[in-house]
Amino acid sequence: MEHLLLDVANRANRYVVGLPERSVAPSLEAIEQLRLLDVPLQDEPIEPSRVLAELDEIGSPATVATTGGRYFGFVVGGSLPAAMAANMLAGVWDQNAARILSPVAASLEDVCIRWLISLFGLPANAGAGFVTGATMANLSGLAAARHALLAQQGWDVEARGLFGAPPITVLVGEEVHVSLLKALSMLGLGRDRVVRVPVDGQGRMRSDVLPKISSPTVVCIQAGNVNTGAFDPAGEICRTAKASGAWVHVDGAFGLWALSSPRRAYLAEGVQDADSWATDGHKWLNVPQDSGIALVREPEHLRAAMTATAAYLIEGEGREPSHYVPEMSRRARGVEIWAALRSLGRLGLAELVERTCRYASQFAGGLQAAGYEILNDVVLNQVLVSFGSPDLTRRVIQRVQEEGICWLGGTEWQGHVAMRISVSSWATTEEDVQRSLEVILRIAEEEAGA
Ligand SMILES: Cc1ncc(COP(=O)(O)O)c(C=O)c1O
Repeated sequence: MEHLLLDVANRANRYVVGLPERSVAPSLEAIEQLRLLDVPLQDEPIEPSRVLAELDEIGSPATVATTGGRYFGFVVGGSLPAAMAANMLAGVWDQNAARILSPVAASLEDVCIRWLISLFGLPANAGAGFVTGATMANLSGLAAARHALLAQQGWDVEARGLFGAPPITVLVGEEVHVSLLKALSMLGLGRDRVVRVPVDGQGRMRSDVLPKISSPTVVCIQAGNVNTGAFDPAGEICRTAKASGAWVHVDGAFGLWALSSPRRAYLAEGVQDADSWATDGHKWLNVPQDSGIALVREPEHLRAAMTATAAYLIEGEGREPSHYVPEMSRRARGVEIWAALRSLGRLGLAELVERTCRYASQFAGGLQAAGYEILNDVVLNQVLVSFGSPDLTRRVIQRVQEEGICWLGGTEWQGHVAMRISVSSWATTEEDVQRSLEVILRIAEEEAGA
């Protein structure tokens, strides 16, 4: 065992040390080599060290270097050193995050909830569940909403289901994230029966055209649009919605972290007035996959939606982690969140948010200076750029990805094909941004002249 653990530590170290020099996207050859893992399952056991060697030698080259400094795709954070190390230790602990199975996992979740409430300025009695990502955090927050709204109508949705239940109206912005629609569909609230509220040019829900709210309603707003980084006007929407008895849910997968930076917090002004919030640890907080958090103003609604009891499930003193999430057994996600926050502190987190936003502006400035159109107001860590025609933009994206110095994706934004740049990693440096800009600009010029 000792040899194996030292071996894995060495291999992990080699992987991390090699990140700056390797291609961000794996080579075709590395992907092709993955067939070597696809062997007929043998009869006899194999030495663990050999299994590890196969995984590392064949698997590591076929990873995408998302923990390096030049991955700007989707909204994917890296892995802070403390969080990465905590993740390795937690892997060795192999804890099931139930209080009776892991006092440390349950206690760390308690601490993280208090820290997050304080960082985001949420109500002191809010509760939370630690889930796989923002999709499940959206699902959990909306399950709490469904419970509360129907309970007010005298309907126990957990016991009776939705058949025959009073209808719930769901309002979303036109630029709602697809994961929120998926969550609604899983909850029986339907992805197509939502009322879509028009948005402005940045994707912000227009509070001036919010429909009149009368029946039980959940209003789903966004803190951080996945394309533009824009925030719905939470303060105004909460005021109107709450006056009509609606539940307001915030999808703040990455944007909620703006609250931790005094210079960006204004963007999320008013989100604290909502009833539930979904966010991710594995995006801007830079903890390893998979880590999402559902926060709810009145935790009894989340608990009512998620709890399960049985005679053999012993309940100890204190908050029981599994009563606030869909899963019964799961890993101890609070460990990495605790480690990340403990290592950064308030100032370190604010600086991480601020620094990545500054790098997004550096990208936008460099691209604009070269004559390319920036399609969004760069208020956060997201940049949308067009290189001219849709076809040209797509070719630039593809060649940048193939060259492997950096990785960025594409999108369509309100009818325009764009390259999306998301700066979310603690590991990104100013040099990484400069080097990536040079590559993008060179390729854009070559493609325009081709
Ligand atoms: C606004 C928003 N909501 C939800 C999600 C889904 O998050 P996850 O992939 O962690 O489930 C994302 C992912 O990018 C997002 O940007």
